[in-house]
Amino acid sequence: MRLRSVGVNTGDERALRRRATRAFGRRLAVARAIIGYDGEDEFRVRLTHELVAARADELATAVYGHLMKFPETASFFQLAHGSRDREHIGRRIDSLTEWLASMDGPLDEDAAARLIDIGRAHTARAGDPALRVHARYLLMTISFVQTAVVDLLAEHIEDLRELAMTAAAWNKLLMIHLDLFLAACDGAGASGHWY
Ligand code: HEM
Repeated sequence: MRLRSVGVNTGDERALRRRATRAFGRRLAVARAIIGYDGEDEFRVRLTHELVAARADELATAVYGHLMKFPETASFFQLAHGSRDREHIGRRIDSLTEWLASMDGPLDEDAAARLIDIGRAHTARAGDPALRVHARYLLMTISFVQTAVVDLLAEHIEDLRELAMTAAAWNKLLMIHLDLFLAACDGAGASGHWY
């Protein structure tokens, strides 16, 4: 009896990836529409992006400094004997800096796929479940970032209405990013308790 191969060949994989990328792009478009991130928001983010990019390293360092204060989040950055894994923290600061410094790019399918990849990095990728970062910590970290960005904007924008509109634009954009991160957590085989 001949067994039929059930393996996925490279062509199938590419097709699957293309289909997934289109689905992520659609998800991003829906999030963008429902959150109401419009052309004016985009303009305001682009206008102020350099302020955030210039301080991205400082913001990222503050994020991890904050995460290290709590056992629930610090545990991801500790060595076996409990001391800080400085090398890992350094790598995380670098990747967070890169993310913060590239927030002015187009919100297209490629951006959606990159955001899904970031989300996926927190799912332990079907490895040790202890390494899975719960979605709630991503959410809380986004909140920390929102506050830090608003503080930074407040240093530069004197007009209160403009400050409020610009802060709102950044908040909306960060919510779109969070939605894509959560999509990865949701689809990573996590249970109904993924959050
Ligand atoms: C605003 C929220 C966050 C953003 C934007 C973010 C961003 C990133 C990025 C860009 C990477 C690298 C992805 C890659 O190499 O493919 C990463 C990896 C990682 N992050 Fe986050 N992160 C966030 C929150 C957190 C939190 C709250 C924790 C833990 C408490 C955490 C723990 C980790 C760990 C452990 C890795 C390495 C995963 C691996 O080994 O692949 N992150 N993060």
